[in-house]
Amino acid sequence: IVVDPFDYVVFGGTGDLARRKLLPALYHRDLDGQIPDEARIIGVSRKPQSDKAYRELVKEALEAHLKPEEMDKKVLQRFLARCFFVGCDATSEAGWPDLAATLEAGKDRIRAFYLATSPDLFGPICDNIGKHNLITEQTRVVVEKPLGKDLASAKATNDEVGRIFKEEQIYRIDHYLGKETVQNLMALRFANALFEPLWDNAYIDHVQITVAESLGVEGRGDYYDTSGALRDMVQNHILQLLCLVAMEAPSSMDADAVRDEKLKVLKSLKPITDGDVNTVTVRGQYKSGVNEQGVVPGYLDEVSNKSSKTETFVAIKAEVGNWRWAGVPFYLRTGKRLATRVSEIVVAFKEIPHSIFGEAVPANELVIRLQPDEGVKLWLMIKDPGPGGLRLKRVALDMTFANAFKVRNPDAYERLLLDVVRGNATLFMRRDEVEQAWTWIDPILQAWKESDKAPKPYMSGSWGPDEARDLIRADVPTREWHEKSLTME
Ligand code: BG6
Repeated sequence: IVVDPFDYVVFGGTGDLARRKLLPALYHRDLDGQIPDEARIIGVSRKPQSDKAYRELVKEALEAHLKPEEMDKKVLQRFLARCFFVGCDATSEAGWPDLAATLEAGKDRIRAFYLATSPDLFGPICDNIGKHNLITEQTRVVVEKPLGKDLASAKATNDEVGRIFKEEQIYRIDHYLGKETVQNLMALRFANALFEPLWDNAYIDHVQITVAESLGVEGRGDYYDTSGALRDMVQNHILQLLCLVAMEAPSSMDADAVRDEKLKVLKSLKPITDGDVNTVTVRGQYKSGVNEQGVVPGYLDEVSNKSSKTETFVAIKAEVGNWRWAGVPFYLRTGKRLATRVSEIVVAFKEIPHSIFGEAVPANELVIRLQPDEGVKLWLMIKDPGPGGLRLKRVALDMTFANAFKVRNPDAYERLLLDVVRGNATLFMRRDEVEQAWTWIDPILQAWKESDKAPKPYMSGSWGPDEARDLIRADVPTREWHEKSLTME
């Protein structure tokens, strides 16, 4: 469905995010015929250049990030013709009157400002947008992580943007929410009667959320070194996944209905404080090793600070303190340079109360695979086929999406960028959610800082430090992270 005419103004329009994600995503939507003729993409950055030069940059970005078979000559021409450039300095007057003049031509369209810049420019850019009267009835602003490095700085950033824009005009991106399988989690839970009656502490033993990456810090080392895995992945992506697993059914898909329920989960997270930080969290940092990327260097070889204590791996036992989830651990884990790239949510059900088969019966598991090989698997027990005795076998009801549907899996940004135009904020984070997530993260950061311990080393290509295995075994000695249970067939 074609969306209404829009002007997308991308601050940081020549930067990495724009080239790698935003421009390819908009191109794909154009390819699918969703972008109306009048729509414009207006790249903005400090150094002036012509529209022609910018179109050249856009073309190169598309060629670098799309597959040759995705490049359609006619659509490419159409797409490039939509691209314009305005040189504008976030922190001075320079260029703003030009931007105002360019936007005047589209004053009745939907207007979206995408701040794909460093967060310290959010305030100055918003101030200039306000000062030059660039906000119309139909204006939205999109901001990207990092939204703060702790609660205080997140509030400061939210204040800066909130001085100029109303909350309902602010779209805070967590690109995990745009992933197909993440949206599918809501479909799975709330479009099926099957799971919800079992979705609580009576039937669920524990939940695991893993976001494993095989890449390292890839040239972003010095930024990453000020962040670490807890801020980079847990505060946002992993907590958002946890919310979608744990929330009550919202009354509708309306943005606030969904966000109200996610907020309740964040508020129910049991605080992790000094006393328990060493028993329920594990920090790790990768050493050199071999993984699917080949022979790879260690973290300290990749950053300037050779005695850095920044974690590239974190495992946490989290608990949601409410009636539904009391006593059900949520084991969260993310790391760089692990054995393979895999993101998944595992809902591990309880074992049957009594086995009539003379053998122990493994519990059911629902595995929601976010990437790669997106899909859902439900592990069940059946009779091993054949004339022998009644022996049991563990099999999966397997709905790997690539097999089930022969459609391309869109990138998260494709969905999110057009949701901004549609004015649909369901898959974006509200201010209170972001701040509540920091409220839970801050004491962990604080406790780590006070203990001043170095992260545990782990080999690139492993599944993180041994302490992560000990963490999950601490409650039940036979409990394992999921890559082990996969071999239980
Ligand atoms: C980003 C993090 O938000 O997510 C990166 O800053 C990380 O460090 C990336 O690599 C992972 O995203 P995806 O979509 O590749 O799983």
